[in-house]
Parts: sequence; structure tokens; C-alpha cells
Amino acid sequence: MTSPRSPFPATGRSWTDLQSEIRSRSGQDLAWRDGRTPLFVFRNDQATYEVGRDAYFECFSENALGRKRAFFGIASMEQDVLDFGLDLFNAPEGGAGAFTSGGSESIFIAMKAARDAHRARVGQGAGTRLNIVVPITVHPAFDKAADAMDLEMRRAPLRDDYRVDPIAMAELIDGNTAAIVGSAPCFPHGVIDPIEELSEVALAYGTWLHVDACVGGWIAPFFTRNGRPTPDFDFRFPGVRSISADLHKFGFCPKPASTVFYRDEADLERATFKADAWPSGSFSTATLAGTRPGGAVAGAWAVLNYLGEEGYRDAAARLAAMVDQYCEGIEAIEGLRLWSRPDVSIINFGSDTLNILAVAERMMARGWLPGLTRTPRGMHAMLSMLHDGQAREDYLHDLRACVEDVRSDPMQTSKLEAVY
Ligand SMILES: Cc1ncc(COP(=O)(O)O)c(C=O)c1O
Repeated sequence: MTSPRSPFPATGRSWTDLQSEIRSRSGQDLAWRDGRTPLFVFRNDQATYEVGRDAYFECFSENALGRKRAFFGIASMEQDVLDFGLDLFNAPEGGAGAFTSGGSESIFIAMKAARDAHRARVGQGAGTRLNIVVPITVHPAFDKAADAMDLEMRRAPLRDDYRVDPIAMAELIDGNTAAIVGSAPCFPHGVIDPIEELSEVALAYGTWLHVDACVGGWIAPFFTRNGRPTPDFDFRFPGVRSISADLHKFGFCPKPASTVFYRDEADLERATFKADAWPSGSFSTATLAGTRPGGAVAGAWAVLNYLGEEGYRDAAARLAAMVDQYCEGIEAIEGLRLWSRPDVSIINFGSDTLNILAVAERMMARGWLPGLTRTPRGMHAMLSMLHDGQAREDYLHDLRACVEDVRSDPMQTSKLEAVY
């Protein structure tokens, strides 16, 4: 049944009244601050959160679309953020990037650049249907981009370690392949695809390799610098041509904020949309969005400068310690096992003997939003510091209780299905 349509407000209301209603409506949300949601929200610590929020509101009204003509402060902060990313990802001289609203936009615009680069290389105009070759675990943002740009999605299977099989990827490439993709890490299993091998494939076939580091980009390098190596995924591999990396996930910056980087500024130019046919003169953007929040740029700039390498290394160390505690806690519960060792902070676990969906259903009844995967059947969580401390203890306590409950239930049925 659809809910009745809200009529347009006949009169205005006071801010006090509105604020109280906002709070009451938000009060209906899951208790995400207590770590009850396994995705959607990210946190380092309260101080970082406040720096991001306050910086956001310093530039609340500024529009990053006008950065070249009006908002020079936003332009310079945006360039700093992009420079930091080019440095972090070891981009060669001449590398370039763009600040976007999120992973989906970074991915979309990189796929547009790859499509246009392919067309330029083979001298083809529109008309030939191109394809992109991706791991089966790639984020649906690629499906969305492919759908909008009429690209065929070719999905490659995984190896036993849940990383994509580079040989299977190579077998799917043909003369119409605009790009191949690897994730760092992939969302479902939390492992980083073999980017070095994919880079070799890309070079051998002359295709574009995009690395989707939306989750790991801004934090995984600091795991490595802390002496807990995560597989490398950046421009040091010569076949890597573009990288998407979200600031609003493990960069701990306010939403909406992501970045996309290109090895060569000519590719940023390809990503750039230009129009000149209307009465108001030339228009161009290196993003899908037109108007963009200045606050997101100021927020990201402030958080990156507030934390610096030292702060991100500290965050990475705390994140790693917490992930280990989750892994140990889960493996200590009889019947459960991790499907893969997390490369960063996504965990996925299931069971050979219990119906994990029945466990997840019971966790839901206890107020936890369970993340689920279909293959293998697993419970999934993208952990940030929201999930530490009491949240971790409560989660593992309830998980143990739910597993016991399911073990004693011979039916072990569940109506749950994996939903993102
Ligand atoms: C690996 C990966 N890529 C891309 C995205 C899309 O990011 P966004 O939701 O910011 O568009 C996500 C989101 O979780 C992701 O996990």
C-alpha cells in the first residue's frame, strides 16, 4: 500500500518546530551511531567528524561548478585534495584528477573516458557496441555506467581466493573492449584483485585498466605503511590508467565526496564534457554533476589536512586491530568461518553446517542490519570505527547467541535475501 501523498505546506513553520521534527524522524533510523548498520556510514573519531562537518558548513553555499570563475578558494582546496591523491597513488608527472560526488560518479566518468579513448584509438565513432571486462564482484556502479552508455558487461569468474582470475579476464577481451577493471578491495569479499597481473593483461592487449579503489583507496596505503601490507593497486603498475577512490568512505570526509585520477591529463580531457550550442556560451565539466557542494570540497580538504599521514596511519592501525578482533571473535564461534581474510576492513563469513541466513534473520530481530552475500552465502560488514568498542562486543555476543539459537533449530529456515 502506498502512503498518502504529503500536501504542499500551506504555511511556513518555525525552525524550532522543524528541527524537532527532523530529530524525531531521524529517531526512526536504525541506531547507526551504535554500529548497527554494516554499510552506508563511516567514522574515524568524533574530532575528525567535527572537523569535516564544521569545514563543510564554512562553505555551505559555495558551488564548485563555479570554481574557475567565482570560487577561487574552493578551486585551490580542490586542487590540494587532488594533488594529495596523485601523490598517495604514485601518479607520474602529468597525472590529473577530478573531485566527484561519490564512487558511482567517479566510475561513470572514468568509463566515459575509457570509451572515448577506445574510440579515438581505433578510429571508431559511436555505433559499434563496446564492452567492459570486469570481475563478477565489481560494484553495480559499473552496470549503471554500462547501461547508460550502452556498453556490454562481461563478467569474469574468481579464483579460489575470491580474487578475479586474470586469465579469465584476458579471455573475455576482444577488439571492442573499452576497459578492464579490478577492485581494491571488492565490496562482496573485501579482497583486492590481482592488479599487477591485470596491469600486464592491460598492457598486452592495449586496453584501459581502471582500479576501483572506492573503498580502499584513501586508507589501504596506510595499512601498508604501518607494516601490514595490503596488495598494491596504484599507478606504480604501468597498465593502471585510472583509479576511483572515495573520500566519503575510508577518507572519513563528509558526503558527497570522491575522487577519480588519470595517469595522463589527456584522459581527464576525455572525461570532460563540453557543450557550446546554446545561447549561454561554452560549458564544460570533468564530472557528471554540474552544481557541486563547495562544502564537500572544504570538508575533504580540512579532514585530509587535519589527519595527515600520521592521522591516517593511526586510523589504519586502529581499524586493523578492530578487524582482527572481529575475525578472531567470529572464528571462535563454532560453525562459523571467514570466507576470505580481509585485505582492508570488509569481512564476510558463513558456515558449512548452519544456515547463515537464519543467523542473519535473528541478528535482525536484535536490531542489527545484516549485510548479506549470495555466493558464497555470507554475512558481510564494511567496518569503520563506528563498529568498535561496545558495538563490537555487542555484535559478537549477539552473533554467538543467534548461532546457538539456529543450531538448536532443526528447520533453520529464513526468508532473507541479499539486498545491498
Ligand atoms: C567497491 C565499491 N565501488 C563503488 C562504490 C560506489 O560508491 P558510492 O555509493 O559512493 O557511489 C561502492 C559503494 O559501496 C563500493 O563498495
